[in-house]
Amino acid sequence: MKIAVIGGGSSYTPELMEGFIYHIATLPVREVWLVDIEAGREKLSVVGALAKRMIEKAGVQIDLHQTLDRREAIEGADFVLTQLRVGLLDARARDERIPLRYHCIGQETTGAGGFAKALRTVPVILDICQDMRELAPKAMLLNFTNPAGLVTEAVIKYGGVKAIGLCNLPIGMRMNIANTLGVGLERIDTEMVGINHLNWTTRVFLDGDDITSEFLDRYLSEQGMTPANIPDLQWDAELLQTIGAIPCGYLRYYYMPDEMLAEEQEAARTTGTRAEVVKKVEAELFDLYRDPNLAIKPKQLEQRGGAYYSEAAVRLMDSIYNNTKDIQTVNVRNGKTLPYLPEDASVEVNCVIGRDGAIPLPPTVPLAASSRGLLQVVKAYESLAVEAAVHGDRAAALEALTVHPLVPSVAAAKQLLHDILAENEAYLPQF
Ligand code: G6P
Ligand code: MN
Repeated sequence: MKIAVIGGGSSYTPELMEGFIYHIATLPVREVWLVDIEAGREKLSVVGALAKRMIEKAGVQIDLHQTLDRREAIEGADFVLTQLRVGLLDARARDERIPLRYHCIGQETTGAGGFAKALRTVPVILDICQDMRELAPKAMLLNFTNPAGLVTEAVIKYGGVKAIGLCNLPIGMRMNIANTLGVGLERIDTEMVGINHLNWTTRVFLDGDDITSEFLDRYLSEQGMTPANIPDLQWDAELLQTIGAIPCGYLRYYYMPDEMLAEEQEAARTTGTRAEVVKKVEAELFDLYRDPNLAIKPKQLEQRGGAYYSEAAVRLMDSIYNNTKDIQTVNVRNGKTLPYLPEDASVEVNCVIGRDGAIPLPPTVPLAASSRGLLQVVKAYESLAVEAAVHGDRAAALEALTVHPLVPSVAAAKQLLHDILAENEAYLPQF
């Protein structure tokens, strides 16, 4: 089996290598191709050397290649994993700071920041799809690149390849539930409904028994489980009891925008935005990676919001390869799964995973009316943003930003769009 990792110089790559090594008995990965661009050459060589040491130490048979030639990596691949970041962390920092100028949430996936990231990312992902159609027509694209739901929707509509969008939050939620209850992960099942970075855990099972309401009480009293990149403001217990579900961490931006904005403004003045913090974390990680005696994934990688993302990626590949038909929460074409969203939209729901990919399952309990409404609005934004990103359509771009719940007015949308287009000019061939 050949795997191509686009954005292979990422600090997350040791995470992925650990996953491949751990699953080698059931997922026979023989070739891993780490691809990066010229600007990532140094990172690629540091991460590549660490990956080689990890393989040697584990005594597994994986050929590791590093290359700046994406086509060579994609040719004949079984899986293509995208974990790239167009414009690197500097672009992310701009995505986080531009909205703050207009008193809007500045976040890399949610709101105007995520919109800017989508405009930069979609053309690159569609280029990768073109390479795949030509050089690896049977390959499956596993997209981690954010905004993962929106990017996956662009691929579903315009990419012409098999694709699944992935996030670490669903597995992270299950792990957290298991940890809270002090039980093994395999005893916990969940039902999750929504779209990427905007979903709810509507049912929790322990050994097959539905324990949702008891768990919700416990969850509210302990207030745990926030990904490292999101300020962990307390949820409103009354609201969560009313909707009867556990929101993913990003829903804080929608349920308490003023408080979250205040947190972001404070951070921007003091520690720096998340991108600026991550730059430092990354520099420290790369210092560790350079140590020739290091041959495992360092613990410090857990400071990143995407911790355990290899679990999600490798479990998915394993289940596809072995046709296991187990259930995982991933991003796929909606079809008739959530009837209140368009059929060709991407949704993040429980899916049966097997040889044919991910088949979405209809939810077994209804979602709160407020959640449904929010999903419809944000999905309208996402679908308009896909059109803007694919065709360089300014009218769609303005409409997308205007309808977004975290952008207060068309006037703010115009200002945001102006700055986003101006400050990302080098990355927006479609405009
Ligand atoms: C979360 C999200 C990822 C995102 C990450 C950011 O876990 O699911 O999609 O990339 O956080 O973490 P970072 O450490 O880069 O802020
Ligand atoms: Mn994610």
